[in-house]
Amino acid sequence: MSVTLGTPLSPTAVKVMLLGSGELGKEVLIALQRLGVETIAVDRYENAPGQQVAHHARTITMSDPAQLRALIEKERPDLVVPEIEAIATPMLEQLEAEKVVRVIPTARAARLTMDREGIRRLAAETLGLPTSPYVFCDSLAELQAAIDSKIGYPCVVKPVMSSSGKGQSKIDGPADVQKAWDFAMAGGRVSHGRVIVEGFIDFDYEITQLTVRAAGADGQTETHFCEPIGHVQVKGDYVESWQPHPMHPAALQRSRDICKAVTDNLGGHGVFGVELFVKGDQVWFSEVSPRPHDTGMVTMTTQWQSEFELHARAILGLPVSTALKSPGASAVIYGGVEATGIAYDGLDEALRVPQTDVRLFGKPESFEKRRMGVALAYDADVEVARRRAKEAASKVRPRKG
Ligand SMILES: Nc1ncnc2c1ncn2[C@@H]1O[C@H](COP(=O)(O)OP(=O)(O)O)[C@@H](O)[C@H]1O
Ligand SMILES: [Mg+2]
Repeated sequence: MSVTLGTPLSPTAVKVMLLGSGELGKEVLIALQRLGVETIAVDRYENAPGQQVAHHARTITMSDPAQLRALIEKERPDLVVPEIEAIATPMLEQLEAEKVVRVIPTARAARLTMDREGIRRLAAETLGLPTSPYVFCDSLAELQAAIDSKIGYPCVVKPVMSSSGKGQSKIDGPADVQKAWDFAMAGGRVSHGRVIVEGFIDFDYEITQLTVRAAGADGQTETHFCEPIGHVQVKGDYVESWQPHPMHPAALQRSRDICKAVTDNLGGHGVFGVELFVKGDQVWFSEVSPRPHDTGMVTMTTQWQSEFELHARAILGLPVSTALKSPGASAVIYGGVEATGIAYDGLDEALRVPQTDVRLFGKPESFEKRRMGVALAYDADVEVARRRAKEAASKVRPRKG
């Protein structure tokens, strides 16, 4: 097997289009730029983080199949790399079937993971993997019936189309049901009112198991595992992560068996962020993103090849190494204010915390709870790294410009 790369902006260029150009896409784009790949950054708004570091920036509604087809046919990228879920994935499947483009990892994987239903049914019903008990519901009455007959309390309600905890809430008893339904209806990404209700798993901890499918020397696909990433979620949104998370060998093996089963089925090459709940030696599959994962930003300081570099290499057919460089941690920097073009004070203080680094994503608009940056720290002691990452993050003070 021999992989050939070219010169950007020339006839030999290898062209890659990112669908979604947030902070995760930005880092994938930087990794691709370093290999001389010609990059096209697509998002729904202008000056998205990844658009600031790509050769070309395009702004379209990615959930509109006609706009998506028109753009791909015009740009003719070698690879299309989804960074978000809200994309017209049936159109990607059509374009892939017509051999117009290759979708990472596959168009089918992008479709199955674009909402909670496709991937949950695949994991639980097709592959028989352990998950929380669940029911899909289309009305408040169905939700109440599902809880009464199957799920019980406590449980968690989530819109089928949502991410980062949007519209998600925990129900502790009958008094919370109406509130959770209304919250889900307001927080879903598209208007149709479908939710998943899941039994609450009383886990000891949760991890992200980054799993990489990449070509081996003989051209066969190999599966590589990063060290497990521990994280803290507040209201379904990640605030802090660290790597490695210590695990009992049996739980680690069980986790990786689950990851292998899911990623083998989804196929293709690239990074997968598999979310798992662990209690003792028991492991539940929660969800998977066929792309780098937000909690995996920690790998920018902990691995020789970050999850973004791993993704870039894997999709281009290059070899990968998931080796750990040092234990470390990440802590999210939130906007704190609602404004455009904000300023960040205290960067010097943040970077004076030993063994830290900071990424500011350059998002044009800040919201109170919008992720605007991340602090990273490494140390042989993961607890020291966690403390330092949080300290560095707290020193960065966003304000109106
Ligand atoms: N069934 C559940 N039991 C316990 N905690 C859950 C359950 N489902 C979700 N959570 C918590 O909420 C977080 C976000 O849920 P997740 O399904 O990953 O949504 P998202 O797609 O928004 O990331 C999880 O990482 C976990 O901390
Ligand atoms: Mg999640």
